[in-house]
Amino acid sequence: MLGLVLLDLLYNLFVGGIPLEITELKGLQGLFLSNNMLTGEIPVRIGNLTYLQVIDLSGNGLSGSIPLNIVGCFQLLELKLNNNNLSGAIQPEFDALDSLKVLDISNNMFSGEIPLTLAGCKSLEVVDMSFNNLAGEVNESILKWSNIRFLSLARNNFNGIIPSWKNCDEIVVFVNVLKNKDLGFNYKLLSSIRIDLSDNSLYGEMPDGLFRLQGLEYLNLSHNYVMGQILKSLESLWNLKTLDLSYNFLTGKILANMSRFSGDFSGNPELCVEFSGEGCRGLRALGSDTLKKVDLHYIRALEMLTGIVFQRLPLISAVKHQLRIRTIYESNLMEYDVDKH
Ligand SMILES: *[C@@H]1O[C@H](CO)[C@@H](O)[C@H](O)[C@H]1NC(C)=O
Ligand SMILES: *[C@@H]1O[C@H](CO)[C@@H](O)[C@H](O)[C@H]1NC(C)=O
Ligand SMILES: *[C@@H]1O[C@H](CO)[C@@H](O)[C@H](O)[C@H]1NC(C)=O
Ligand SMILES: *[C@@H]1O[C@H](CO)[C@@H](O)[C@H](O)[C@H]1NC(C)=O
Ligand SMILES: *[C@@H]1O[C@H](CO)[C@@H](O)[C@H](O)[C@H]1NC(C)=O
Repeated sequence: MLGLVLLDLLYNLFVGGIPLEITELKGLQGLFLSNNMLTGEIPVRIGNLTYLQVIDLSGNGLSGSIPLNIVGCFQLLELKLNNNNLSGAIQPEFDALDSLKVLDISNNMFSGEIPLTLAGCKSLEVVDMSFNNLAGEVNESILKWSNIRFLSLARNNFNGIIPSWKNCDEIVVFVNVLKNKDLGFNYKLLSSIRIDLSDNSLYGEMPDGLFRLQGLEYLNLSHNYVMGQILKSLESLWNLKTLDLSYNFLTGKILANMSRFSGDFSGNPELCVEFSGEGCRGLRALGSDTLKKVDLHYIRALEMLTGIVFQRLPLISAVKHQLRIRTIYESNLMEYDVDKH
């Protein structure tokens, strides 16, 4: 058994904890236990498996936090812990996993911030942290992941200014497929770039740098506080297939010839969208099914206008105002019963 390099037990009906015996399989390179019904914690001794290249424990009922010892698996290329009940913080020490290409911790209960040290994991190509309780500022540090192909931080509580993507021109377009093909470790890496920062509290203008990511195929910034005019450079995004900027505070016009891709701009009360031959129409005049939502956001916009959000403030005070105004908005919205109006 000690010679076993690959343990592939996915889609079984294993229940109970991860058997400790697994951590004695010293030569193990791939541990696939996804989609079982495993509960309990990830064994601390997993860090003894120094040859591991892939850990896939996704789709179970695991709880507790990620043991710090996991950094013992220093050759790890892929860590998939998504769809569990894991919690706790992402430890700054995890930057020791500096070969990691795929980090998927989506659909758990992780909290805290993305530690700045993680910026050092330059090999990361796929990062999915969506559907957690992560918070804090998303700032330039995540842009250090210069090989990123897929980034989703959606459905968390991140705030701060949307990163600028200013110095990312050199993003590599070709995907490095994991080396050990025989063992079937290939993650389905998309050849395009997909970025999803939706449903957080990010604000600021549409980052110019994003438009220079020529491989950008999917961009979702919906349900944030993105402001300002939609940039003309939208036209230069030839690979873009899906753009969701709905429920923000964008202004200006979207010309009919700008949107070759499917774009969702609804819920931006000050934005005008030109439909072919019909001229520019305000989004509030759109179909009645979206109207209620748009109205609610319009209310939100009015409240924000009474604040100082649209003025250019120093970064720190802007954050404070943003947070304060958002708090007021939320308490108002709670009292504003949608069904009764
Ligand atoms: C396995 O890991 C545990 C906990 O980290 C440690 O105490 C133990 O010495 C390790 N065993 C071996 C054989 O490395
Ligand atoms: C998830 O973990 C929390 C504690 O972190 C626990 O209270 C809850 O019951 C767990 N849920 C499931 C479905 O296991
Ligand atoms: C980036 O965010 C972290 C928290 O996530 C914070 O500690 C750090 O000061 C921020 N850096 C900048 C340049 O804003
Ligand atoms: C964008 O994100 C929102 C919220 O996370 C989601 O509901 C929506 O379906 C996404 N849009 C697209 C086009 O994928
Ligand atoms: C789009 O249409 C506007 C006028 O409606 C025109 O000024 C602009 O050059 C057009 N852009 C492209 C890329 O065709």
